[in-house]
Parts: sequence; C-alpha cells; structure tokens
Amino acid sequence: MSPIKRNIPFIQIPLPEWFEPVVRTVWDKMKRDSTGHDFFHAVRVMELAVEMSDELAVDREMTMTAGLLHDYYREEEKESGLLHYGPEAMEGLRREFGSLIIPNLGEERFERMIEAISRHEEYPFAFKASNAPAELSIEAQILQDADRLDAIGAVGIARTFMFGGAHGLPLAEEADRTEGPGTFDPGQRPQGSVYRHFYEKLLFLADGMHTAPGRRIASERHTFLISFLKQLEKELSLGTPTITH
Ligand SMILES: [Fe+2]
Repeated sequence: MSPIKRNIPFIQIPLPEWFEPVVRTVWDKMKRDSTGHDFFHAVRVMELAVEMSDELAVDREMTMTAGLLHDYYREEEKESGLLHYGPEAMEGLRREFGSLIIPNLGEERFERMIEAISRHEEYPFAFKASNAPAELSIEAQILQDADRLDAIGAVGIARTFMFGGAHGLPLAEEADRTEGPGTFDPGQRPQGSVYRHFYEKLLFLADGMHTAPGRRIASERHTFLISFLKQLEKELSLGTPTITH
C-alpha cells in the first residue's frame, strides 16, 4: 500500500490509493469539529483498529474504513437530535460512500463494515441483563475497542473535557459530592458534570475490551486515567465517590 499523507496531517500508516478520496471527504467534514469527535479522533481510531487487526490477522481494510467513518454523522446528531449510529448512519454511509468503497471492498464487506459502525455505541454496562445484544462480529469488536481506547488515557481525558465544554457541562458540581455516579446512556443528551462522566463511563471501558490487544493497550491507559482522577479529586476536594474500578 502506498502512503497518502500528502497535506493530511497525523496519518502515520500507509493507506491504499483507493482510500484517498474517502480520507479527503472525511477531512473536509470533520476537520473543524471541536467536541472531541474530530478528524484526528477518526484517524487515531482507524490506526488503532488497523494495528489490532494486523495482530489478530483480521481484514484490515474493513476495520480501517470503519475506524475512519465511525463518527462521520456526529455533526448531524447535534443538529437533528437523531442518533448518529444505527440504521440512519448505515443508510447515509451507503448513499455517501457506497460508490467510492464498494468497488474496492465489495458489497458484502461494505455491509459488514457499516454494520460494525452501526453497533459501535453499544456498551455492555448500559444493557439490562434481560436485553443482551446479539453477538458482535470481530470487526465490530475491534472498532469498539479502538474507539474506547481513544476515550481513556491522556487523549481520552483531553477529549472528555473538549466534549464537556462543547456541550456546556460544568467541570464538577455539588451533586458529585453527594449523589454518586449516574447511569450512562449513549442515546441521551449529555448531562451532569465532566467529572461525573469518568464514573458513568470512562472507568468501565477497560474492563469491556473485547480483544487481547485492546485489553493490553487499555491497561496502561486505565492506570493513567485513575492516577489523573485521584489528583483531580484531590484538587477539587472531592472526597466521594471513591474510585472502585
Ligand atoms: Fe468515536
């Protein structure tokens, strides 16, 4: 595969020629995002997904494409209130990228790829026991792991505060001291404080990794996350809730 880094920063891995127009379309749409779901998040997820796919001998072109496109409709979500994943996203991706990608991946791999995207916001800790989701394909597992790795560690912390700022959330609030963590629902509008989001979601992510490389990379990032959180609580004089993960 030949590199297509020309004028597009932060892409470290070589990509196939056919992928160049896909990258440029994503760059044009996502380069100005300031919510933490920008083009560079898409690229990091793509690169992590490719790295894990190589280690697991999984189809890297599918996970590369899914990684780059997985948050493509975030902007629309903010405007319309509709979910950016699920059937709406699958339909949009077919319409916008089908003619660029299907000639290279083929119809079947393209459908598996967008199916992985449509399920990337399923969180095991957000399901009730009676409502367990269908089994995920290996591509979907890799995409979920890659996306969640970018939500923990130093980058994940930075993105959490970008997201909170973009959605008008406070750093912390009095309820954080008294109420304990809430429940994370990816379909809900962001609420509570940025601090609380660590307890609702971020601290659960390492335990939910599907793949061996995901677990390995998550372990270091999770340790860093806890270390940051302890210091944050100290500086904010937040004695409770205590870290349990
Ligand atoms: Fe993402």
